[in-house]
Amino acid sequence: MARAKRKSRTGRGNRTSQRRSSRATDAIGLLKADHREVEGWFEQFEKTRSDDRKLELAGKICTALKVHTQIEHEIFYPAFLEATEEEDIHHEAEVEHDGAKKLIAQIEGSGPQDDYYDAKVKVLSEMIKHHVNEEEKRDGMFAKARQSDMDLDALGEQLAARKQALMSGQQGSRPNSGRRPMRGVMGRMSTAIR
Ligand SMILES: [Fe+2]
Ligand SMILES: [Fe+2]
Repeated sequence: MARAKRKSRTGRGNRTSQRRSSRATDAIGLLKADHREVEGWFEQFEKTRSDDRKLELAGKICTALKVHTQIEHEIFYPAFLEATEEEDIHHEAEVEHDGAKKLIAQIEGSGPQDDYYDAKVKVLSEMIKHHVNEEEKRDGMFAKARQSDMDLDALGEQLAARKQALMSGQQGSRPNSGRRPMRGVMGRMSTAIR
């Protein structure tokens, strides 16, 4: 992936500083917003006693996490690895994604009638909490990305466009109760997952 450096439109670019955009729409702002959204749904899942609501929330969580991990895998992580050469951080994040995807598939293949459904969603929330901390902590992936010469504005645009394309494949679909396979882009995505 090309690494175009961000041009200063104001002409006040600071060459001695590696500071980059901190706008909410840049790559890191977009990925953090995804994290917060899913955390909110996990909290709601823990509070509700309604099976319908659990199914709805788990559907939202699984879809959002599949799209999020996919755009990180396709766009953000390769750019991070190229810019920073931080192989350990990159590889551990990919392995954590793989673990989450396996549990997501199990959740999508079952439902609230499954004795282990709540446990599976709880363990997924704990896996994601750990993974998000690895990305957001001091000296974690995002901090190192900010210190690098990654073009976070351009990456943010790419992430947003890819996210929109993947999400549009979900339009009109309903949370999967486990009785039928997912169709469309998301179905192909889930089978393409390593
Ligand atoms: Fe993330
Ligand atoms: Fe991630």
